[in-house]
Amino acid sequence: MQHQTVIVLDFGGQYNQLIARRVRECGVYCELKPYTTPLAELKAMHPIGIIFTGGPHSVYAEGAPSVDTEIFTWGIPILGICYGCQLMAHSLGGKVVPAQADSAREYGKTETNYDPSCRLFAGLPSHGISWMSHGDYMEKVPDGFKRTAWSDACPNVAIADPSRGFYGVQFHPEVNHTQHGLDMIRSFLVNVCGATRDWSMDDYKRTAIQEIREKVGNGRVLLALSGGVDSSVMAALLAEAIGPQLTCVFVDHGLMRLNEGDEVQAAFAHWDITFVRVNAEQRFLSKLAGVDEPEHKRKIIGEEFIRVFEEEAQKIGKVDYLAQGTIYPDVIESGFGDAAVIKSHHNVGGLPDTVDFKELIEPLRLLFKDEVRQLGRELGLPEYLVSRQPFPGPGLAIRILGEVTKEKADLLRLADFIFRDELAKAGEDKKLNQYFAVLTNARSVGVMGDGRTYDYTLALRAVTTSDFMTADWARIPYEVLDRISVRIVNEVRGINRIVYDITSKPPGTIEWE
Ligand code: XMP
Repeated sequence: MQHQTVIVLDFGGQYNQLIARRVRECGVYCELKPYTTPLAELKAMHPIGIIFTGGPHSVYAEGAPSVDTEIFTWGIPILGICYGCQLMAHSLGGKVVPAQADSAREYGKTETNYDPSCRLFAGLPSHGISWMSHGDYMEKVPDGFKRTAWSDACPNVAIADPSRGFYGVQFHPEVNHTQHGLDMIRSFLVNVCGATRDWSMDDYKRTAIQEIREKVGNGRVLLALSGGVDSSVMAALLAEAIGPQLTCVFVDHGLMRLNEGDEVQAAFAHWDITFVRVNAEQRFLSKLAGVDEPEHKRKIIGEEFIRVFEEEAQKIGKVDYLAQGTIYPDVIESGFGDAAVIKSHHNVGGLPDTVDFKELIEPLRLLFKDEVRQLGRELGLPEYLVSRQPFPGPGLAIRILGEVTKEKADLLRLADFIFRDELAKAGEDKKLNQYFAVLTNARSVGVMGDGRTYDYTLALRAVTTSDFMTADWARIPYEVLDRISVRIVNEVRGINRIVYDITSKPPGTIEWE
């Protein structure tokens, strides 16, 4: 079935795939295309609308990403976001200038006023918070446009020329912090582009299965199964697509949570797939000895993973493809296109030269976490697997600050278990999207009984988020935090102080390393 298509034209901003994800969430099929894509190619896709994304440049800078201006006479609706909005204004005769005064630069949550007569904002409150991230602003609106939103610092926060279907917003409607942002995107799709919302996750599943079959043919696939949501959904997807050709290898690197290795093994015991568990704790710990730099730890673990797979692949015989449950937040934060690099996630970035697999397959690469869960449900996975909180590939290695040792991993495992156990007992776990303990390398003086202690400080981290690109620290009730603190200090010898992390993302990240 042919779906209506929206093109998200990528100018290299941090949130570009998030825009694509929001469009899909509205039930509209979309594809992300680089801004350099020739106009003829875009036209051949017969889109119903185009969204220009944000980007890190200034429109007036030399060599700034631009578009063939013929795009504006094609007769297609366009929504410009942040850089995309400035580009549209700049290209059509408006004036974009650097915000000289700090007052016109806006970063973060901004009080914004909307003109409710604009189609984008119709039916929404005329005032709300929007998420800004720009150092330039539109001094002059292009002819034919009128301003449709403004803030204290910025006179032209949004612009519209309804006769041509052109809309632009300086802020980011795709992030959760913008109130009614999704409604604005939906208004553009439905009310401006005439989207009938004919796309669903079931379509994604069928297309993904078909693509896997075509690509793999009779080949054999080796999957890195961690037991987390992503790799479990991958296993189900591959099982449905190519069943007996699949071997799942579960590498227990000794940096999993308490009892997790056994749980993963048990969860997959009844599946009609080949399941291999490799106990490699010693191997990973000896490689990590003496290493304290986060990116270095990730690199070591990533490479060791590959080596283990290589060895398993050799034991299994001929393996053609390595499947990985890489999802979009891993891709974007590892530097995709022009977006800035924040962290290099160990499961992204291809394979070392010596690896003798034909290719990687990563069918979840374009999905966000909640979409992966949705896909898992479509595939009939049990809810306890599908709604499991994410756990990073490098495991506890990036939650033990500084050097990783078995002793520290055991301390952290127990403390982390108590944290999760008490949250579950209080019914708080369901309100959180990710929560875990971090073993800092700070030691402090305490008193227990009549004696002095000089032990580790444990940090507790709990966040709410829907996309893991932005997150807020969770307001766990004090009495629950109190129970957790008392239990951990009493039950985990070696930890004498507990702190709670009250940093949102940005500026923090969810993990500490
Ligand atoms: P950050 O810390 O970047 O985390 O805000 C966002 C999400 O990604 C997870 N994460 C990782 N996952 N390999 C992974 O597979 C990694 O190296 C890695 N680092 C962070 C993190 O747990 C959160 O869900």
